[in-house]
Amino acid sequence: MNDTLPKPLNVQQAIEERRSIRDYDTAPVPESDIVEMLRLASLAPSSSNTQPWRFVVVTNPDLRAKVREAAYNQRQFATAPVVIAVIADADDMIGSLEETAHPNMQNDPAALDRYINGTRSRLEKLSETERQHIASEQSVYAVSYLTLAAQSMGYSTSVMGGFDGEKVKALLEIPAHAKVAVLVTLGRGTEPGFPHHRHALERITTFKR
Ligand SMILES: Cc1cc2nc3c(=O)[nH]c(=O)nc-3n(C[C@H](O)[C@H](O)[C@H](O)COP(=O)(O)O)c2cc1C
Repeated sequence: MNDTLPKPLNVQQAIEERRSIRDYDTAPVPESDIVEMLRLASLAPSSSNTQPWRFVVVTNPDLRAKVREAAYNQRQFATAPVVIAVIADADDMIGSLEETAHPNMQNDPAALDRYINGTRSRLEKLSETERQHIASEQSVYAVSYLTLAAQSMGYSTSVMGGFDGEKVKALLEIPAHAKVAVLVTLGRGTEPGFPHHRHALERITTFKR
């Protein structure tokens, strides 16, 4: 074991320390670290394990500059070496049910059929907008995992909803039916971010004892 490597933060520490960071060291992030963060993000839960999230990782400087423009020139894009577009793709979610079926089901044709055809027909009854809404809602779980995985590994992030979705889709060649759920900037942060400022727990929690 290499004692010189920083220890990953545990979940509690990563949650405490994560803040939206809008200024970064411009040094590239090793692709192996990005892959590990995305692997951890992909372990997030989803309804019926449908995993509607897809990731587009943008490190190319010219493309990053164009994405920045489509995101109203928000300052976090000026220095972030990586931008990750989290895509919610309801069509690919329905089209990949054979892949997302739990391996146990392979020995149980009735359960497999219920999963694939039952889930497909349930989703196909919904409107395109409703399906896309479900896919976007689910993708948020992967975004949360991604930000905490990055934090745990010594990186900072900023999640953004402020961008022109159609422009970002065109730039990143994302299929017309899919939705850009959020953009996430990623890198080594060079500012502390704002201290946490949250509702008091009593304001948002009720115990029914
Ligand atoms: C879905 C979502 C969209 C957001 N959009 C933006 C954005 O477009 N620009 C921005 O600077 N911050 C954006 N934020 C960051 C929030 O402002 C930030 O999370 C919040 O103020 C709490 O601060 P913290 O993340 O530092 O704890 C967004 C956060 C989320 C979760």
